[in-house]
Amino acid sequence: MSDPEANFKMLLSLASDALKSERWDDSVRFAAGVIQAGANGDYLSIALEVLGWAHLNADRPDAARSVLSEALRMRSPGAIAPAIELSKKLFANGRSGDAFDLLAQAHHCAPGDISVPLQLAELHQRCGGYPDAVKWLECANSINPESAPARSHVLSSLRATISRNDALRNSISAVGQTIANASGHRVMSGPFAGITLSSGHDFAWVATLVGCYEKELHSTIEHAIAMRPTRIVNVGCSGGYYAVGFARRVPGATVFAFDIEASARASCVELASVNGVGDRVVVEGACTPEVLTPLIGSGSLIFCDCEGYELHLLDPAILPGLDKTAIIVELHDVWVPRLAERLLARFLATHKVHRIGAIPRDWRIEPVAHIPGLTDQERVFAVSDWRDLSMSWAYLEPRQVEE
Ligand SMILES: C[S@@+](CC[C@H](N)C(=O)[O-])C[C@H]1O[C@@H](n2cnc3c(N)ncnc32)[C@H](O)[C@@H]1O
Repeated sequence: MSDPEANFKMLLSLASDALKSERWDDSVRFAAGVIQAGANGDYLSIALEVLGWAHLNADRPDAARSVLSEALRMRSPGAIAPAIELSKKLFANGRSGDAFDLLAQAHHCAPGDISVPLQLAELHQRCGGYPDAVKWLECANSINPESAPARSHVLSSLRATISRNDALRNSISAVGQTIANASGHRVMSGPFAGITLSSGHDFAWVATLVGCYEKELHSTIEHAIAMRPTRIVNVGCSGGYYAVGFARRVPGATVFAFDIEASARASCVELASVNGVGDRVVVEGACTPEVLTPLIGSGSLIFCDCEGYELHLLDPAILPGLDKTAIIVELHDVWVPRLAERLLARFLATHKVHRIGAIPRDWRIEPVAHIPGLTDQERVFAVSDWRDLSMSWAYLEPRQVEE
């Protein structure tokens, strides 16, 4: 066809027909044809949107993300709807940072589109970022003041939660200082007793100091330590409690600690240095299957808490070395539906799969019972991890271990 515009129109019509009849790869082929033929302006925008939908539906989030980012950069309003759908998928797969980045781009592209701040508010609320959720709901109100009353209930309940949390944070912090003074800032019990811990902002910092943070895992951690792993991979190291704890308890091991947050990595490096294990704790950014490949196999232990990304990461079809790797993993079914069932099914043939459920805390059996100057209610606070009792973990113990 000699007329380029007629060619673009024909290819776009084929691409959207293929999209309607759920032939995703055909849709990609026709839409990519428009781009290869040198389209620009509206034709290019529409081709990118169609490509975004097709990749999204074909479960290729990274390809969808790259074309939709391009469309958003071109300020193509048709990219907003697929970008919102993609953000939901990324978030469900534990990639909250990518989801937020994409939505920020969408907001920049169409600042008057209320659906983007509403989606940002929902995702922030779901991961406990209440002040950000309030900020985005206020943004939605400024875009459409008439619909603000529909959001007033959720806004006031978020504001109440924020002020309750602030009050709690203050009182926890005072309890923590009393315990830190009594313990000399050292973890008082559990597998990682003796770690020097600086005061933290997280509610669970005090339980960590007492030594009953994630107490459900203590016997599993002891079992994994007794296996004398030589490489320990800590996915989602946060402030470094586990990375440093394992490095201290397993002197023959190198710990590879990963976190996508720069502030978490900095805290982990500092904690390792304060505790004299900085030379055996290697701190890196995102943990991906590629990064993990050389670190797994016989003699490796993975300790994983990464907000749902475990479903993508811990896949023996991509990482065959997982077959002989011991794994302790926090299971985020709260964020990814049926995550535990899908993840654990992959390991039934190669590992003994132990499920670990949450257990309620009892301050009377913890060291905090003997610290003077605290009320019973403050001792209850001190041993709490501040989390839902529906949380669970799994210990995957390899059946075959090479000598
Ligand atoms: C709940 S925190 C982990 C807390 C840790 N288990 C502890 O108790 O100290 C989860 C961490 O996972 C990190 N994360 C999420 N996905 C990741 C990835 N692909 N690679 C590395 N870190 C990741 C987040 O930045 C976050 O700091």
